[in-house]
Amino acid sequence: MDLYCVMGNPIKHSQSPWIHGRFAELTAQALHYDRRLVPLDRFATEVKAFFSEGGHGCNITVPFKFEAAALANHQSERATLAGAANVLTLQNGKLMADNTDGAGLVKDIQGNAGVRLSGRHLLLIGAGGAAAGVLGPLLLAGPASITLANRTLAKASALVARHAALAAQQGTELRAQGLHSLSTSFDVLINATTSSLTAGAMPVAASTLKPGALAYDMMYGSAAQGFMSWAQAHGAQARDGLGMLVEQAAEAFMIWRGVRPPAQQVLAELRLLMA
Ligand code: ATR
Repeated sequence: MDLYCVMGNPIKHSQSPWIHGRFAELTAQALHYDRRLVPLDRFATEVKAFFSEGGHGCNITVPFKFEAAALANHQSERATLAGAANVLTLQNGKLMADNTDGAGLVKDIQGNAGVRLSGRHLLLIGAGGAAAGVLGPLLLAGPASITLANRTLAKASALVARHAALAAQQGTELRAQGLHSLSTSFDVLINATTSSLTAGAMPVAASTLKPGALAYDMMYGSAAQGFMSWAQAHGAQARDGLGMLVEQAAEAFMIWRGVRPPAQQVLAELRLLMA
């Protein structure tokens, strides 16, 4: 059986083995997918060991996505833009890095939530790894504008500078702002901060939500609850990041197996399991 895994630290709660196991069942693919807890200083060693044991591909999660991109022999364009990778694949003896997080987010918003991105005004909150992973694919969806707002403005400005050429090519207005200088409202808000984890106040004012806006938290489960309740209380359509998790996995599965799994069905099943 072809061998795959997810590597991270911590890794105990990763849903990836279940998601990929279900994809494999539903598409009749013979594969084995497990989880590996990687000590913080042993990422490169563990990746090499996995592929020399015959591993075909692995997903990478916190905190190794940056190291994963740097370790590869070749990076996809979206992994280069993100500066991070969540998929490593061995192809003809070379380690290929890709990043399917942003494609998963866009698929979940447009395909599963049914919210169009093209021509719309987007607010992406945060400028850490999570935001960096999705900005390129969000630009490729053709919004009218993306405002990248972050507590530390310099980090937002750096991320905007790295994506300026793509934004110009797409005809999308891309700007960086501080969290508290936002004076307009948006069609789609995406929370890519870790503020929900600290149960802190919402990172932005409710006046940033247009009536009926989509308010999306890239986290899921209890970590997303505060943001989702806040959004609903202010008339927005709230959505957590569980669909992004399943869709980024589906993109990885497609890269590895050349087969598109039924992501919507697996998302519905996972929601029931986690309820
Ligand atoms: P990740 O890889 O998950 O994105 P990260 O790189 O540590 O994690 O980034 C966390 C993001 O959440 C950053 O944008 C951070 O803002 P700063 O760049 O100013 O540190 C943001 N963040 C964390 N806690 C926050 C809070 N309480 N309010 C607003 N933003 C917060």
